[in-house]
Amino acid sequence: MGVKLIKIAVIYFVLGILLGMYMSISHSYDYASVHTHVNLLGWASLALAGIIYYLFPAAGESTVGKVHFWLHNIGLPIMMIGLTLLVSGVESVEPVIAAGGVLVTLGILAFLYNVLTHVKSVKSVRRRR
Ligand code: HEM
Ligand code: HEM
Repeated sequence: MGVKLIKIAVIYFVLGILLGMYMSISHSYDYASVHTHVNLLGWASLALAGIIYYLFPAAGESTVGKVHFWLHNIGLPIMMIGLTLLVSGVESVEPVIAAGGVLVTLGILAFLYNVLTHVKSVKSVRRRR
């Protein structure tokens, strides 16, 4: 799960940077909120989660980790495509953005639960054995 998340994160990084370059070159900042969330919810958040899952395999391999993975990775593209359409003038897409945002938020709550239950220091794991 960790390695997969890191690879997906890098794809968001490239998309976010390309959008940043486009805005800088064209002096058109309409898509700044898409750029922000592709970079922060895509690249930064997924890469951090990936590193945490790689460092703590109990969290990376847990069922709740998979729930987090899918909620975030289904919700974020829905939210980002919706936001792009909204900025382009398609106002009716707002509920779609909300649905994507709710999926991402539920995913992050799953991440919270996963980290609190499965991320443990080596010492505390050894002590229990
Ligand atoms: C080649 C790389 C990048 C370029 C060319 C770029 C370009 C831009 C541009 C043109 C804006 C709009 C500024 C405005 O509305 O006045 C912006 C906003 C922003 N960028 Fe980037 N960006 C890059 C990378 C990143 C990365 C890697 C992150 C985060 C991980 C990031 C986070 C943000 C945020 C949070 C904003 C919104 C700031 C605000 O609304 O005040 N950017 N960027
Ligand atoms: C489901 C999760 C999230 C939702 C629904 C959400 C929603 C929003 C909304 C509605 C705005 C105002 C946009 C505007 O006025 O144009 C905003 C701005 C912002 N958000 Fe988020 N956000 C989420 C997660 C995050 C996360 C995780 C980060 C950082 C790690 C972040 C960073 C920012 C920043 C820096 C801004 C201000 C810059 C901008 O407007 O582009 N957001 N967010």
